[in-house]
Amino acid sequence: MLTLNQTSLNIELDHPSQRSSEFHYVWLRDNCGCTECVHPDTLERTLVTAEIADDIAPQSADISDTELVVAWNDGHHSRYAMDWLKRHDYSHSRFQTDLAAGEIKLWGSEIQNQIPEYDYRALHDDDQQTLLNWCCDLRDYGLTIVRNAPLKEAEIERFAEFVAVVREVIYDRLHNVRATPGEYNAYNVASTTLELKPHTDMPCYNNPPGVQMFHFLANETEGGESTAVDGFKVAEQLKQQAPEAYEILTKTPVFFQMDSARGDIASGNPLLTLDTDGKLKVFRFSNQLARPSNIPAEQMEAFYAAYKKIGRLIEAPENKVQFRLETGDIMVTNNLRVMHGRNAYSGAGQRHLQLSYMDMDDVLSRIRMIKKTQVAA
Ligand SMILES: [Fe+2]
Repeated sequence: MLTLNQTSLNIELDHPSQRSSEFHYVWLRDNCGCTECVHPDTLERTLVTAEIADDIAPQSADISDTELVVAWNDGHHSRYAMDWLKRHDYSHSRFQTDLAAGEIKLWGSEIQNQIPEYDYRALHDDDQQTLLNWCCDLRDYGLTIVRNAPLKEAEIERFAEFVAVVREVIYDRLHNVRATPGEYNAYNVASTTLELKPHTDMPCYNNPPGVQMFHFLANETEGGESTAVDGFKVAEQLKQQAPEAYEILTKTPVFFQMDSARGDIASGNPLLTLDTDGKLKVFRFSNQLARPSNIPAEQMEAFYAAYKKIGRLIEAPENKVQFRLETGDIMVTNNLRVMHGRNAYSGAGQRHLQLSYMDMDDVLSRIRMIKKTQVAA
Protein backbone atom coordinates (compact mmCIF):
# COMPACT_ATOMS: atom_id res chain seq x y z
CA MET A 1 0.00 0.00 0.00
CA LEU A 2 1.23 3.46 -0.90
CA THR A 3 -0.02 6.69 0.68
CA LEU A 4 1.16 10.09 -0.48
CA ASN A 5 1.23 12.76 2.24
CA GLN A 6 2.21 16.39 2.03
CA THR A 7 5.97 15.94 2.54
CA SER A 8 6.39 12.19 2.73
CA LEU A 9 4.99 8.88 1.58
CA ASN A 10 4.07 5.78 3.53
CA ILE A 11 4.53 2.22 2.33
CA GLU A 12 4.16 -1.23 3.88
CA LEU A 13 7.51 -2.95 4.32
CA ASP A 14 6.39 -5.95 6.40
CA HIS A 15 7.83 -4.40 9.54
CA PRO A 16 7.22 -6.61 12.62
CA SER A 17 5.31 -3.75 14.23
CA GLN A 18 2.96 -3.84 11.20
CA ARG A 19 3.26 -0.08 11.07
CA SER A 20 3.90 1.44 7.68
CA SER A 21 7.25 3.07 6.94
CA GLU A 22 7.54 6.75 6.16
CA PHE A 23 10.01 8.20 3.66
CA HIS A 24 10.30 11.93 3.22
CA TYR A 25 10.33 13.29 -0.33
CA VAL A 26 13.47 15.33 0.24
CA TRP A 27 15.20 12.21 1.64
CA LEU A 28 14.08 10.05 -1.28
CA ARG A 29 15.08 12.63 -3.86
CA ASP A 30 18.45 13.13 -2.16
CA ASN A 31 19.10 9.38 -2.15
CA CYS A 32 18.17 8.66 -5.73
CA GLY A 33 20.74 6.11 -6.86
CA CYS A 34 20.56 6.63 -10.61
CA THR A 35 23.71 7.35 -12.61
CA GLU A 36 22.71 11.01 -12.95
CA CYS A 37 22.61 11.41 -9.18
CA VAL A 38 25.47 9.08 -8.15
CA HIS A 39 28.72 8.64 -10.05
CA PRO A 40 28.63 5.04 -11.27
CA ASP A 41 32.34 4.39 -10.67
CA THR A 42 33.19 6.33 -7.52
CA LEU A 43 29.74 5.96 -5.93
CA GLU A 44 29.95 9.61 -4.87
CA ARG A 45 26.84 11.75 -4.88
CA THR A 46 26.80 14.07 -7.87
CA LEU A 47 23.32 15.41 -7.11
CA VAL A 48 23.73 18.66 -5.16
CA THR A 49 21.44 18.35 -2.15
CA ALA A 50 21.13 22.11 -1.66
CA GLU A 51 19.66 22.39 -5.16
CA ILE A 52 16.68 20.13 -4.43
CA ALA A 53 13.51 22.23 -4.77
CA ASP A 54 11.85 23.09 -1.46
CA ASP A 55 8.52 21.84 -2.79
CA ILE A 56 9.91 18.55 -4.12
CA ALA A 57 7.12 15.97 -4.34
CA PRO A 58 6.07 13.10 -6.59
CA GLN A 59 3.92 13.79 -9.60
CA SER A 60 3.22 10.10 -9.49
CA ALA A 61 4.47 7.16 -7.48
CA ASP A 62 3.92 3.41 -7.87
CA ILE A 63 5.01 0.36 -5.96
CA SER A 64 5.39 -3.21 -7.07
CA ASP A 65 6.71 -6.21 -5.12
CA THR A 66 10.25 -5.23 -5.97
CA GLU A 67 10.47 -1.45 -6.28
CA LEU A 68 9.10 2.01 -5.73
CA VAL A 69 9.06 4.20 -8.84
CA VAL A 70 8.70 7.96 -8.48
CA ALA A 71 8.21 10.65 -11.14
CA TRP A 72 9.24 13.87 -9.41
CA ASN A 73 7.84 17.35 -9.98
CA ASP A 74 11.36 18.49 -10.99
CA GLY A 75 11.17 16.16 -14.00
CA HIS A 76 13.49 13.49 -12.57
CA HIS A 77 12.60 9.79 -12.31
CA SER A 78 13.81 7.56 -9.47
CA ARG A 79 13.58 3.85 -8.71
CA TYR A 80 14.13 2.39 -5.24
CA ALA A 81 14.41 -1.36 -4.72
CA MET A 82 12.18 -2.61 -1.90
CA ASP A 83 15.18 -4.39 -0.34
CA TRP A 84 17.08 -1.12 -0.33
CA LEU A 85 14.15 0.68 1.31
CA LYS A 86 13.95 -2.04 3.98
CA ARG A 87 17.66 -1.68 4.75
CA HIS A 88 17.34 2.10 4.96
CA ASP A 89 14.01 2.30 6.76
CA TYR A 90 14.37 5.00 9.42
CA SER A 91 10.74 5.09 10.59
CA HIS A 92 10.94 2.65 13.46
CA SER A 93 14.55 2.86 14.60
CA ARG A 94 17.89 4.06 13.38
CA PHE A 95 19.00 1.76 10.58
CA GLN A 96 22.45 0.22 10.64
CA THR A 97 24.22 -0.56 7.40
CA ASP A 98 27.78 -0.31 8.69
CA LEU A 99 29.64 -3.58 8.12
CA ALA A 100 32.02 -2.59 10.90
CA ALA A 101 29.36 -1.92 13.54
CA GLY A 102 30.08 -3.76 16.77
CA GLU A 103 28.94 -4.01 20.33
CA ILE A 104 30.97 -2.39 23.06
CA LYS A 105 31.69 -4.79 25.91
CA LEU A 106 32.51 -3.00 29.13
CA TRP A 107 34.98 -4.72 31.44
CA GLY A 108 36.73 -4.47 34.77
CA SER A 109 39.16 -6.66 36.69
CA GLU A 110 37.05 -9.77 35.94
CA ILE A 111 38.55 -9.84 32.45
CA GLN A 112 42.05 -10.17 33.92
CA ASN A 113 42.56 -13.75 32.68
CA GLN A 114 40.34 -13.45 29.61
CA ILE A 115 41.86 -10.57 27.70
CA PRO A 116 41.50 -11.45 24.00
CA GLU A 117 44.83 -12.97 22.95
CA TYR A 118 46.10 -13.74 19.48
CA ASP A 119 49.17 -15.30 17.99
CA TYR A 120 51.16 -13.00 15.74
CA ARG A 121 51.56 -15.59 12.97
CA ALA A 122 47.86 -16.51 13.00
CA LEU A 123 46.99 -12.88 12.28
CA HIS A 124 48.78 -13.34 8.97
CA ASP A 125 46.66 -16.34 7.87
CA ASP A 126 45.63 -16.13 4.25
CA ASP A 127 41.89 -16.25 4.86
CA GLN A 128 42.13 -13.18 7.13
CA GLN A 129 39.54 -14.61 9.52
CA THR A 130 41.86 -14.36 12.55
CA LEU A 131 42.80 -10.82 11.60
CA LEU A 132 39.10 -9.98 11.32
CA ASN A 133 38.41 -11.50 14.75
CA TRP A 134 41.27 -9.53 16.26
CA CYS A 135 40.07 -6.25 14.70
CA CYS A 136 36.57 -6.95 16.05
CA ASP A 137 37.87 -7.72 19.56
CA LEU A 138 39.87 -4.52 19.49
CA ARG A 139 36.71 -2.67 18.46
CA ASP A 140 34.51 -4.30 21.14
CA TYR A 141 36.92 -4.63 24.11
CA GLY A 142 39.46 -1.94 23.27
CA LEU A 143 42.21 -4.22 24.65
CA THR A 144 43.99 -7.18 23.08
CA ILE A 145 47.34 -8.93 23.35
CA VAL A 146 49.28 -10.33 20.42
CA ARG A 147 51.87 -12.95 21.38
CA ASN A 148 55.07 -14.10 19.71
CA ALA A 149 55.84 -11.10 17.54
CA PRO A 150 59.31 -11.10 15.93
CA LEU A 151 61.96 -9.37 18.05
CA LYS A 152 62.97 -6.97 15.34
CA GLU A 153 63.58 -3.26 15.54
CA ALA A 154 60.59 -1.33 14.11
CA GLU A 155 58.48 -4.48 13.92
CA ILE A 156 55.54 -2.54 15.37
CA GLU A 157 55.66 -0.10 12.49
CA ARG A 158 55.52 -2.97 10.01
CA PHE A 159 52.65 -4.50 11.97
CA ALA A 160 50.72 -1.21 11.83
CA GLU A 161 51.24 -1.13 8.08
CA PHE A 162 50.10 -4.73 7.79
CA VAL A 163 46.84 -3.91 9.59
CA ALA A 164 46.23 -0.37 8.35
CA VAL A 165 48.52 2.67 8.39
CA VAL A 166 50.70 4.36 11.00
CA ARG A 167 49.16 7.41 12.63
CA GLU A 168 51.98 9.84 13.05
CA VAL A 169 52.20 12.44 15.80
CA ILE A 170 54.66 15.27 15.98
CA TYR A 171 57.10 13.54 18.30
CA ASP A 172 58.01 10.29 16.58
CA ARG A 173 56.62 7.77 14.12
CA LEU A 174 58.06 4.98 16.20
CA HIS A 175 58.37 5.64 19.94
CA ASN A 176 61.02 3.99 22.07
CA VAL A 177 60.13 3.51 25.70
CA ARG A 178 63.02 2.49 27.93
CA ALA A 179 64.83 3.85 30.91
CA THR A 180 68.37 4.44 29.84
CA PRO A 181 70.51 6.69 31.97
CA GLY A 182 71.19 9.80 29.93
CA GLU A 183 67.86 9.55 28.15
CA TYR A 184 65.89 11.00 31.06
CA ASN A 185 65.50 14.17 29.05
CA ALA A 186 63.04 12.23 26.89
CA TYR A 187 59.67 13.86 26.61
CA ASN A 188 57.77 12.05 29.33
CA VAL A 189 57.73 10.01 32.49
CA ALA A 190 57.42 6.78 30.49
CA SER A 191 61.17 6.98 30.01
CA THR A 192 61.84 6.51 33.72
CA THR A 193 61.38 3.44 35.93
CA LEU A 194 58.55 5.09 37.87
CA GLU A 195 54.97 3.92 38.06
CA LEU A 196 52.82 5.21 35.21
CA LYS A 197 49.23 5.79 36.28
CA PRO A 198 46.55 4.68 33.82
CA HIS A 199 46.11 7.29 31.12
CA THR A 200 45.24 7.70 27.49
CA ASP A 201 48.01 8.95 25.23
CA MET A 202 48.12 12.31 23.51
CA PRO A 203 44.92 13.80 24.98
CA CYS A 204 46.54 17.11 24.06
CA TYR A 205 45.57 16.44 20.44
CA ASN A 206 42.06 17.47 19.40
CA ASN A 207 42.03 14.11 17.61
CA PRO A 208 44.22 11.78 19.66
CA PRO A 209 45.53 8.64 17.95
CA GLY A 210 42.87 5.94 18.18
CA VAL A 211 44.93 2.77 18.52
CA GLN A 212 48.06 2.29 20.54
CA MET A 213 50.40 -0.68 20.13
CA PHE A 214 53.22 -1.55 22.55
CA HIS A 215 55.76 -4.07 21.34
CA PHE A 216 58.03 -5.54 24.01
CA LEU A 217 61.45 -6.05 22.49
CA ALA A 218 62.72 -6.88 25.98
CA ASN A 219 61.13 -7.23 29.38
CA GLU A 220 63.58 -8.65 31.87
CA THR A 221 63.06 -6.36 34.84
CA GLU A 222 61.37 -6.94 38.19
CA GLY A 223 57.93 -5.31 38.28
CA GLY A 224 56.75 -3.13 35.43
CA GLU A 225 53.47 -5.05 35.09
CA SER A 226 51.16 -3.47 32.53
CA THR A 227 47.85 -2.06 33.72
CA ALA A 228 44.69 -1.14 31.83
CA VAL A 229 41.36 0.42 32.73
CA ASP A 230 38.24 0.62 30.58
CA GLY A 231 37.44 4.34 30.47
CA PHE A 232 33.94 3.68 29.14
CA LYS A 233 33.25 1.40 32.12
CA VAL A 234 34.34 3.96 34.71
CA ALA A 235 32.37 6.66 32.89
CA GLU A 236 29.29 4.43 33.05
CA GLN A 237 29.86 3.87 36.77
CA LEU A 238 30.13 7.61 37.30
CA LYS A 239 26.93 8.14 35.33
CA GLN A 240 25.10 5.69 37.61
CA GLN A 241 26.61 6.92 40.86
CA ALA A 242 26.78 10.65 40.25
CA PRO A 243 24.95 11.75 37.09
CA GLU A 244 25.66 15.42 37.77
CA ALA A 245 29.39 14.72 37.93
CA TYR A 246 29.16 12.80 34.63
CA GLU A 247 27.36 15.75 33.08
CA ILE A 248 30.05 18.16 34.24
CA LEU A 249 32.78 16.02 32.68
CA THR A 250 30.94 15.98 29.34
CA LYS A 251 30.83 19.79 29.26
CA THR A 252 33.96 21.10 30.93
CA PRO A 253 37.13 21.47 28.89
CA VAL A 254 40.29 20.05 30.43
CA PHE A 255 43.47 21.53 29.06
CA PHE A 256 46.20 19.05 28.12
CA GLN A 257 49.62 19.93 26.87
CA MET A 258 52.82 18.18 25.79
CA ASP A 259 55.48 20.81 25.55
CA SER A 260 59.03 19.80 24.71
CA ALA A 261 61.89 20.62 22.40
CA ARG A 262 60.11 18.47 19.79
CA GLY A 263 56.78 20.26 19.74
CA ASP A 264 54.07 21.95 21.77
CA ILE A 265 50.69 20.29 21.37
CA ALA A 266 47.88 21.74 23.46
CA SER A 267 44.10 21.69 23.45
CA GLY A 268 41.11 21.79 25.79
CA ASN A 269 38.37 19.16 25.49
CA PRO A 270 35.99 17.46 27.92
CA LEU A 271 37.22 14.20 29.45
CA LEU A 272 34.03 12.63 28.10
CA THR A 273 33.06 13.49 24.53
CA LEU A 274 29.58 12.37 23.55
CA ASP A 275 28.24 11.57 20.12
CA THR A 276 25.05 13.03 18.69
CA ASP A 277 23.02 10.27 20.42
CA GLY A 278 24.48 11.26 23.79
CA LYS A 279 26.63 8.09 23.91
CA LEU A 280 30.24 8.26 25.01
CA LYS A 281 32.51 8.53 22.01
CA VAL A 282 35.94 9.60 23.27
CA PHE A 283 37.43 9.19 26.74
CA ARG A 284 40.52 11.22 27.67
CA PHE A 285 42.48 11.06 30.86
CA SER A 286 46.06 11.87 31.67
CA ASN A 287 46.90 13.14 35.10
CA GLN A 288 50.44 13.94 34.00
CA LEU A 289 49.48 16.06 31.00
CA ALA A 290 46.62 18.08 32.55
CA ARG A 291 47.43 21.76 32.87
CA PRO A 292 45.86 24.50 35.07
CA SER A 293 42.15 24.85 34.47
CA ASN A 294 40.82 28.23 33.44
CA ILE A 295 37.12 27.46 33.73
CA PRO A 296 34.90 30.10 35.40
CA ALA A 297 35.48 30.40 39.15
CA GLU A 298 31.93 29.43 40.04
CA GLN A 299 32.38 26.07 38.25
CA MET A 300 35.76 25.17 39.74
CA GLU A 301 34.70 23.39 42.88
CA ALA A 302 32.05 21.23 41.22
CA PHE A 303 34.46 20.38 38.40
CA TYR A 304 37.16 19.23 40.82
CA ALA A 305 34.65 17.13 42.75
CA ALA A 306 33.65 15.38 39.51
CA TYR A 307 37.25 15.09 38.29
CA LYS A 308 38.36 13.48 41.55
CA LYS A 309 35.38 11.10 41.49
CA ILE A 310 36.33 9.69 38.11
CA GLY A 311 40.00 9.64 39.13
CA ARG A 312 39.12 7.46 42.13
CA LEU A 313 37.05 5.11 39.98
CA ILE A 314 40.04 4.76 37.65
CA GLU A 315 42.19 3.72 40.63
CA ALA A 316 39.59 1.30 42.04
CA PRO A 317 41.02 -2.28 42.01
CA GLU A 318 37.79 -3.70 40.55
CA ASN A 319 38.27 -1.56 37.45
CA LYS A 320 41.90 -2.34 36.77
CA VAL A 321 43.57 -5.29 35.07
CA GLN A 322 47.22 -5.95 35.70
CA PHE A 323 49.37 -8.42 33.84
CA ARG A 324 52.92 -9.05 32.87
CA LEU A 325 53.81 -8.78 29.22
CA GLU A 326 56.75 -10.83 28.03
CA THR A 327 59.37 -10.20 25.44
CA GLY A 328 57.67 -10.55 22.03
CA ASP A 329 54.23 -9.46 23.21
CA ILE A 330 52.25 -6.60 21.73
CA MET A 331 49.56 -4.92 23.80
CA VAL A 332 47.00 -3.06 21.71
CA THR A 333 44.48 -0.58 23.11
CA ASN A 334 41.74 1.63 21.77
CA ASN A 335 43.29 4.87 22.98
CA LEU A 336 39.97 6.72 22.70
CA ARG A 337 38.58 4.46 25.41
CA VAL A 338 41.08 2.35 27.34
CA MET A 339 43.78 3.72 29.64
CA HIS A 340 47.13 2.00 29.98
CA GLY A 341 49.82 2.24 32.62
CA ARG A 342 52.51 0.20 34.34
CA ASN A 343 53.89 -0.48 37.75
CA ALA A 344 57.31 0.80 38.79
CA TYR A 345 60.18 -1.52 37.96
CA SER A 346 63.75 -2.15 38.93
CA GLY A 347 66.49 -0.65 36.84
CA ALA A 348 68.28 -4.04 36.57
CA GLY A 349 67.73 -5.95 33.32
CA GLN A 350 66.42 -4.63 30.05
CA ARG A 351 62.96 -3.25 29.46
CA HIS A 352 62.52 -1.85 26.00
CA LEU A 353 59.33 -1.38 24.11
CA GLN A 354 58.50 0.32 20.87
CA LEU A 355 55.13 1.80 20.23
CA SER A 356 53.27 3.02 17.27
CA TYR A 357 49.79 4.41 16.72
CA MET A 358 47.04 3.80 14.21
CA ASP A 359 43.60 5.34 13.91
CA MET A 360 40.49 3.38 14.79
CA ASP A 361 38.81 4.44 11.54
CA ASP A 362 41.51 2.59 9.61
CA VAL A 363 40.98 -0.56 11.69
CA LEU A 364 37.23 -0.33 11.04
CA SER A 365 38.03 0.09 7.37
CA ARG A 366 40.01 -3.16 7.50
CA ILE A 367 36.98 -4.90 9.05
CA ARG A 368 34.73 -3.67 6.23
CA MET A 369 37.23 -4.64 3.53
CA ILE A 370 37.70 -8.19 4.88
CA LYS A 371 33.94 -8.66 5.24
CA LYS A 372 33.38 -7.47 1.68
CA THR A 373 36.00 -9.94 0.45
CA GLN A 374 34.25 -12.74 2.34
CA VAL A 375 30.84 -11.82 0.87
CA ALA A 376 32.30 -11.75 -2.63
CA ALA A 377 34.02 -15.15 -2.20
FE1 LIG B 1 51.27 6.23 27.55
